[in-house]
Amino acid sequence: MRSPPLVFALPADPAATERLGEWLGRHLVAGDTLALVGEIGAGKTTLVRGLARGLGTTDADAISSPTYLLVIEHPGRTRLLHADAYLPQKLLGFLADGGLEYLFDATAVVVVEWADRIAKDLPGRTLWLELSLAADAGREVRLHSEDATAFAFLGALPKMF
Ligand SMILES: Nc1ncnc2c1ncn2[C@@H]1O[C@H](COP(=O)(O)OP(=O)(O)OP(=O)(O)O)[C@@H](O)[C@H]1O
Ligand SMILES: [Mg+2]
Repeated sequence: MRSPPLVFALPADPAATERLGEWLGRHLVAGDTLALVGEIGAGKTTLVRGLARGLGTTDADAISSPTYLLVIEHPGRTRLLHADAYLPQKLLGFLADGGLEYLFDATAVVVVEWADRIAKDLPGRTLWLELSLAADAGREVRLHSEDATAFAFLGALPKMF
C-alpha cells in the first residue's frame, strides 16, 4: 500500500537541502533505495552530498552526478551506491546485464537520480523524494513510498529544514 505523500518546503538555501539529505542518511539502512526526482538544477546532487555525510561516507566531498559513469560507489559506515538514470537506456542495459544484483545490494544504501526514468525497475522498498523549485527560490519536497510500512522514521522528520 502506498503511503500518503509527505510534502514540505525547504528554504532557499542549498545547506537546507544538504541537511535534509544528511538526516535521511542517518536513518536509511543498508538495503534501502532512495529514488530522486527533479528537473535539472532541482538540488538532487546537493541532497546526495548530505546523504553521504549522514551515511558516514569517507569521501562525501567527491559526490558528483554520475551521468556518464552510471554508478559511483562510496565507502563508509554504510556503503553508498550513487546511480543516475538521466540516460535511462544506459542504466537499464546495465541492470539487464547483471547490474541489478550489483546495484540493489543488501549491504548498501542506493540513491538513484532521475529515478522516475527507471521507476518500474526499482525495488518495492524505495523511498521516493521529489524536489521542485518553489516560487521563493526554495524547494518543495514530496516524499512517499509504495510500501507504507517502510521508512517509519519519517514520522520523526524534524521541522528544521
Ligand atoms: N534549497 C535550495 N535553495 C536554493 N538553491 C538550492 C537549494 N538546494 C540546492 N540548491 C542549488 O541548486 C543548484 C543545483 O543543485 P544540484 O546540482 O544539486 O541540482 P541537480 O538536481 O543535481 O541538477 P542536475 O540535474 O543538473 O545534476 C546548486 O547551485 C545548488 O546549490
Ligand atoms: Mg546533479
